[in-house]
Amino acid sequence: MNFADSEEMFLHLCARGATLTDHLESADAVLINTCTVRDHAEHRAISFLGRLMKWKRENPKRIIIFAGCAAQRLGKKLQKRYPFLDIVAGAKSIEDFPTLLDKSGLFSPAGQVIPPAPNLSAYTTIMRGCDFKCTYCIVPSVRGPVKCLPAEMILKEIIEKAARGTKEITLLGQTVNAYKDGETSFADLLYHVSQVPGIERVRFTSPHPLYFTQDFLDVAKRCPKIARHVHIPVQSGSSKVLQEMKRGYTRELFLEKIRALKDCGFSVSTDIIVGFPTETQEDFEQTLSLVDEAGFMAAYCFKYSPRQGTPAAQMQLLPENILEKRLSILLNKVRGLADVSYQAQVGTVQEVLVEQPGKGRTSSNYWAKVDASCPIGSVIKVAIEKAEGTLLFARNL
Ligand code: 5AD
Ligand code: SF4
Repeated sequence: MNFADSEEMFLHLCARGATLTDHLESADAVLINTCTVRDHAEHRAISFLGRLMKWKRENPKRIIIFAGCAAQRLGKKLQKRYPFLDIVAGAKSIEDFPTLLDKSGLFSPAGQVIPPAPNLSAYTTIMRGCDFKCTYCIVPSVRGPVKCLPAEMILKEIIEKAARGTKEITLLGQTVNAYKDGETSFADLLYHVSQVPGIERVRFTSPHPLYFTQDFLDVAKRCPKIARHVHIPVQSGSSKVLQEMKRGYTRELFLEKIRALKDCGFSVSTDIIVGFPTETQEDFEQTLSLVDEAGFMAAYCFKYSPRQGTPAAQMQLLPENILEKRLSILLNKVRGLADVSYQAQVGTVQEVLVEQPGKGRTSSNYWAKVDASCPIGSVIKVAIEKAEGTLLFARNL
């Protein structure tokens, strides 16, 4: 999501004459787009800001823009602590970003925006914000309630991207499958996007387990262009902890949803939090057993991080050594998942979208090495002959 927001902000800078550079020394401006979902992410952004102090001192005309969720959370406090900051642009007001740029008087007036050619694989934001209130999560307070973009606008953007060479679209939203615009549901939108000429593959992230309904499965069955991979954060394998997290589902319901998706050919990856304040050893073991049962292709594991203002931040923290120990046990368990799921692909026939010379991804999101002569952007049918670590070796059919 931040990647897509950065692209959007960059377009507004482009309209005011900016171009991209990889070298800090030759830059006139730096845009830092930040995350605050865990303390560590926020820390990294702020320490980078600290390092920019010297860069700014060397030439006070240089511009620093601090944007995104940490900017939203810390707001004015930041400008007090770092007076050399030129613009603070919180995540809630990304629509106001052009106004902020103009008000600052630091950029020339906006001209026509000529977007750079979109990537073969591009993102499209379809909704912002979140209406859930998971007790550990800061997102609703920094991104605000759900706002769905009009379906017509989304389709127009995707048609334009496809006409300029995009083959794969990833629809983005905090609870992306809760999308609704009037009569258009998420399943309807997926269907329309998969029908756009030139689009070969449609992905989306991140869905909420509760919104995986039959109409999604029906549309997936009808549209092979809907990629057979979903990333569904489970967060915990204990129904008790899930309830305390206010996730809205039980372990059993989650496993039921996964089963239905797998029966439809989907591979599944997930996010897991360890060390939620009320997590007992028994709860943690339930998370371990859920990983065994669910058959994820990958799991991103995080140590619980208290976020100011969230209900869970009022609770007594577990001792750090317990958090560390649980994380390391879980990481050990999930390390093997990728190898197992890559091996399971051997002997199957897959379609690969070639994204780089001699390399692409299957619909279920596995990387595959293909014949170097396959044109980039093409979709080819292959037989998977072997797997080494996280790479499949494919033969053209
Ligand atoms: N502590 C640790 N992990 C968190 N996440 C969200 N909030 C927290 C928190 N307070 C994780 C969740 C989510 C992912 C993006 O970050 O697993 O799915
Ligand atoms: Fe946070 Fe829960 Fe919303 Fe996800 S669904 S963004 S975890 S509040």
